[in-house]
Amino acid sequence: MRRLLIVGNWKMHLNASQASLLVHRLQERIKIRRNIEVVLAPSMLVLQPLSLQIDRRKFRLASQNAYFHDEGAFTGEVSFTMLRELVHYGIVGHSERRHVFSEDLPMIRDKVAAAIRNEITPILCIGETKHERDEGETKQVLHDQLMTALSNLTAHEAGSIVIAYEPVWAIGHVAAKPSLIQTAVDYVRGYVRDVFNEKAAKNLRVLYGGDVAPEVVQGILSVPGVDGFLVGRSSLNYETFAGIVESAHRWQRGVPDGTPQRQAPGGTWPRDNEAGKEGE
Ligand code: PGA
Repeated sequence: MRRLLIVGNWKMHLNASQASLLVHRLQERIKIRRNIEVVLAPSMLVLQPLSLQIDRRKFRLASQNAYFHDEGAFTGEVSFTMLRELVHYGIVGHSERRHVFSEDLPMIRDKVAAAIRNEITPILCIGETKHERDEGETKQVLHDQLMTALSNLTAHEAGSIVIAYEPVWAIGHVAAKPSLIQTAVDYVRGYVRDVFNEKAAKNLRVLYGGDVAPEVVQGILSVPGVDGFLVGRSSLNYETFAGIVESAHRWQRGVPDGTPQRQAPGGTWPRDNEAGKEGE
């Protein structure tokens, strides 16, 4: 059975005492699960105290961002080198970094390389905006994001990273339909297979992100090739985040959720016969 990866991205929320309280509550709720790896990505400020607080059998830490140089005169930045004792993972290229902080493709490529150089596993975020999807550019956007970000990697390195498919229009709004996630995840693995090799495509972990809540977990995990989630808002509420982990655990054990899966606008959800209808 493949190990699932569930990452909570707390974004710019929670001060030190709030973060500590959330970890405390999560530790009460979330059990040690051999087949689920749970990762917390708090603000840079609290990585250090949380690294002392977390039960390492239950949680690992991720940074939300870091700079690509290892050290130097870069006021306000923190490097992956400084984080290497604290985090296992580093989120790179989140759409908020790309769009709010104007991170371009070469910068994201350099951040992926810097994370790997410092033995931190990058969680590379890719995904199209609503405009790009409406214009039928999704495949091209994913291609360009992957091509640049992975361009300096060996096949072994490419197979060891995590890629989170996060359609920008879904973040904070509505989870994408499984059929659409399937198309994107197949594309990502196909790209890695073509450019690197079969082994890298198989080893690579691919997450989905964008409005993940307990109600959509099992439907999305049923998409072949999805290895877990990158969760934003729902990771700030301990009951909801623990609910996501529990639902994933039940799915692994073949136990369906009692509650019906949420309906997405535009049709019954899940609906798996729509792949390829996204205008690409
Ligand atoms: P969301 O955010 O779960 O709040 O949609 C996901 C993300 O930005 O990673």
